[in-house]
Amino acid sequence: MSFDLIVRGGTLPDGRAADVGIRGDRIAAIEPGLEAEAGRVIDAAGCLVAPPFVDPHFHMDATLSYGIPRINASGTLLEGIALWGELKPLLTHGAVKERALRYCDWAVSMGLLAIRTHVDTCDDRLLAVEALLEVKKEVSSYIDLQLVAFPQDGFYRDPTARENTIRALDMGVDVVGGIPHFERTMADGRRSVTELCEIAAARGLMVDMHCDETDDPMSRHIEQLAYETQRLGLHGRVNGSHLTSMHSMDNYYVSKLLPLMVEAEVSAVPNPLINIVIQGRHDTYPKRRGMTRVPEMIAHGIRVGFGQDCVLDPWYPLGAADMLDVAFMGLHVAQMTSPADMARCFDMVTTESAAIMGLDDYGLGVGKTASLVVLDAVDPVEAIRLRADRLFVVAKGNVVAERPKQPAWLSLPGRPARVERRRESSLE
Ligand code: FE2
Repeated sequence: MSFDLIVRGGTLPDGRAADVGIRGDRIAAIEPGLEAEAGRVIDAAGCLVAPPFVDPHFHMDATLSYGIPRINASGTLLEGIALWGELKPLLTHGAVKERALRYCDWAVSMGLLAIRTHVDTCDDRLLAVEALLEVKKEVSSYIDLQLVAFPQDGFYRDPTARENTIRALDMGVDVVGGIPHFERTMADGRRSVTELCEIAAARGLMVDMHCDETDDPMSRHIEQLAYETQRLGLHGRVNGSHLTSMHSMDNYYVSKLLPLMVEAEVSAVPNPLINIVIQGRHDTYPKRRGMTRVPEMIAHGIRVGFGQDCVLDPWYPLGAADMLDVAFMGLHVAQMTSPADMARCFDMVTTESAAIMGLDDYGLGVGKTASLVVLDAVDPVEAIRLRADRLFVVAKGNVVAERPKQPAWLSLPGRPARVERRRESSLE
């Protein structure tokens, strides 16, 4: 038996020690002590071998544009949207593509190999849609890029958004998006959810809406989203992104809402980095956290993934394509500090988000796509704690990124020369 690549001696996220044998772009074997030849062997001894990171919520048309044409002074969502409106007419096909490809390089280096990106359809030129469709094709041998038609300025509020969103779907955009809380009225928001879900049902597409990204407890479009999902038989194909208003909602109302989401199999993607900096901006003190009710949703059986949303754009001045940063922040804001909850936070930037995106070939299993990441950590919790280095990244059978272990060298009398901050071998 021979393989093209063997990742030897690592530990899988579930704690099993196993070698991973890869043939072509598929995982051909997962077992301890794999006896076989291989074109290349990666030594993963003492390391975590995990499926690649997945970002279920991103804006690749805006990424790496921070400061153009100016920065967001208030830090609010609304100023971010206004600023993006100033930048949009200045966009060129080449610039959007160059920034997106540069970001994809960052993603690969961080083991982030599946991304669902929204693309703004409120531009008669649909320039970003064209650019990102090209990027999707160009990166397809190493990143699974899924595009969401996103009417940023409102499906009804913007005069041509409806027509342009439908055009974008005709051009091959994968998922139907929306922004009901930004429509002129609650009624328009509700109506937009209905029409967008009907469009998705007619085309056999998934739905992923920016939903209730506000501190207003009366923003309840998630209820309509669950209702339409149920009515149109879209179970398991609809996601509500952000859902920050749920943080501020009345507890009795939430006790009715969560079972509706369960019934409709609607998933949720909070974006902890963004939610914690953008929400609560109108509060003095106490100041709301602004992230949705993650542990409560998980306890009800609702699938939840963590998204990154933004990197260096009109809404967020930081970000580094690091889904462990996202898991780290999500863990803190949701206070998910039990061992099981911390491990779950790792799943939320890997397997749970892959399920939300409908990636059937994803995961560490025989016959699945041979994409994985070797992390300088003993287990998922340590990976989050250290935001561990990605030592090797394998995408569809090819080693696409690698970096050496980077211990610090100490010059302290009587102390070890080398320190790694690993739980079991921090001092050598
Ligand atoms: Fe977003």
